[in-house]
Amino acid sequence: YFYHTRYLIYPLFSLFSYSYELIKEIADFFLERTTIRPKVGIICGSGLNSLADHITDTQAFDYKDIPHFPVSTVEGHVGRMIFGYLEGMPVVAMQGRFHNYEGYPLTKCSMPVRVMKLVGIQYLFVTNAAGGLNPKYKVGDIVIVRDHINIMGIAGNSPLQGPNDPRFGPRFPPMKNAYDRHLVGKARKVVREMGIENDVHEGVLICLGGPNYETVAELKMLRIMGVDAVGMSTVHEVITARHCDLTVFAFSLITNKCATDYDSCEEDANHEEVVMVGKSRQSICGELVCRMVKSLADDISQKNGSK
Ligand code: HPA
Repeated sequence: YFYHTRYLIYPLFSLFSYSYELIKEIADFFLERTTIRPKVGIICGSGLNSLADHITDTQAFDYKDIPHFPVSTVEGHVGRMIFGYLEGMPVVAMQGRFHNYEGYPLTKCSMPVRVMKLVGIQYLFVTNAAGGLNPKYKVGDIVIVRDHINIMGIAGNSPLQGPNDPRFGPRFPPMKNAYDRHLVGKARKVVREMGIENDVHEGVLICLGGPNYETVAELKMLRIMGVDAVGMSTVHEVITARHCDLTVFAFSLITNKCATDYDSCEEDANHEEVVMVGKSRQSICGELVCRMVKSLADDISQKNGSK
């Protein structure tokens, strides 16, 4: 058995996963082509591509031109990596991400997080569209992610599966404070400043494999488990980010309500609605990201000033 694990399964994983050297090669591709040295990475979720519109002095790379990069196959996801400045802060934003349901293994889905790490980011902001399972949530609300349930990991599918390279992080990384509490506190303050407290919550996110939406029985089970928002991304990206010690902030835009009874009058969940709600709330989501980055920039300059 051990013979097989070591000599068959591990090389197989190595074949499908990205080595440190390969990730470094992708990072170097960017570092050789731009002088921008981002501190913050941003992943734009479904319908939230325009978060990147606030970025100035941009330099963009299409995924198809980046060596070893997959392409995103989902409508509503563009497929570009954008370097530039947001509120004076050097950033890199991904317009379009990779999902397990597209046929990409989780290591591949979260590979760009490691690329951004080697490009030099210290913070990762992750956004996604999600179904609102908490009955208090309305369509268009924002959920600041306080914690997640890694159900795919519990079922044996993790982005960290396979041989561990300690240059990224430890074999057994903790996930207790995966979502930085200082940044959650900052978000609370920003939300008050924006006057949108009534449309913003803090909650627990789950990532399911998709691409189908959930049955009523599944949603009932998830609610019992303590889930507030249901998506098909983010969690494995955050696990990969915490593994390499990035400080993480994430929020979900509630694009539909999850129906937990068969006779509910909600329309069936559908991708068009997800993208449409994303578009209608993109300016508020963009403002939240801008204000968070600005506040982070103020913190950093204050810290440097007090040295
Ligand atoms: N379920 C899963 N993922 C989603 C949903 C949903 O209802 N809405 C947007 N992404």
